[in-house]
Amino acid sequence: MSYITSPESILDITIAAMQSTENQRLKTLITSLTKHLHQFVLENQLTESEFERALEFIVGIGKATGKNTNEVVLAADILGVSSLVSTINNLDLDGGSYAALLGPFWRKNAPLCSWGENISRTHLDGQTMDVRGRILDQSKQPVSGAIVDVWHSSPVGFYENQDELQEDMNLRGRFETNANGEFFFKTIRPSGYPVPTNGPCGELLRAQKRHPNRPAHIHFMISKPGYKVLITQVFDSTDPNLESDPVFGVSKQLIGEYLTNSATGVCELNHSFVLQAGEMVFPAPPIP
Ligand code: BEZ
Ligand code: FE
Repeated sequence: MSYITSPESILDITIAAMQSTENQRLKTLITSLTKHLHQFVLENQLTESEFERALEFIVGIGKATGKNTNEVVLAADILGVSSLVSTINNLDLDGGSYAALLGPFWRKNAPLCSWGENISRTHLDGQTMDVRGRILDQSKQPVSGAIVDVWHSSPVGFYENQDELQEDMNLRGRFETNANGEFFFKTIRPSGYPVPTNGPCGELLRAQKRHPNRPAHIHFMISKPGYKVLITQVFDSTDPNLESDPVFGVSKQLIGEYLTNSATGVCELNHSFVLQAGEMVFPAPPIP
């Protein structure tokens, strides 16, 4: 241990103090994070009041996190970090990604449903929707017996846990793919919605003059032993906010054709997903 001789010397002393970390990955990550933080402070000559404000923001995202909301996840989302982590960990053979960020609203243990079941269990006004899809492996062969976990917002943009009018687990369900790797469910067409804006993240978005509205989408989490869990979203091609998603989730592969059948008035979505071989590891649910 040595003494401070300049602002820059604090980094060396700090890194030296971390040398005995036994877990090598933890050592690498915290050392690197510390270097970037010091560089950030020096580069911007951070003032004491700015530092206080930054700490207040972090305390605020913790305080705003509770039973039905996860402001910490939201902070990572609006800074583009969640999307970056999801993309670098799920690059496909063409260098793109079929994955998208999890978001704060996934719940574990959604009801297990049968082929064609309707997950809109509470009556809501809106357009009926048929969602069909196919799960393929990287050789474009169908994956049967995969579990397709889906969740989405209502036609006015609320997840069931945000909305007293909807029953528990409404607009959520888990479906199994058939021998051809296909699944099918019925629901009601979701609308876009604002990310929660009543906490520190909303304050930051307003300061940055960014709108909070996510383009309409359906979330999918697709799993089968022997494959990486694919966490993704399929966006409504007609939504005006596809290019200004506040959490940066949209890639071209994930824009789905939400087509209205002119004979029946039903919105029909048909989308294929590709699973990568790997270990089946589920994320921690952001809310219970
Ligand atoms: C979502 O798609 O559910 C979501 C993602 C990020 C922030 C808020 C909501
Ligand atoms: Fe969502």
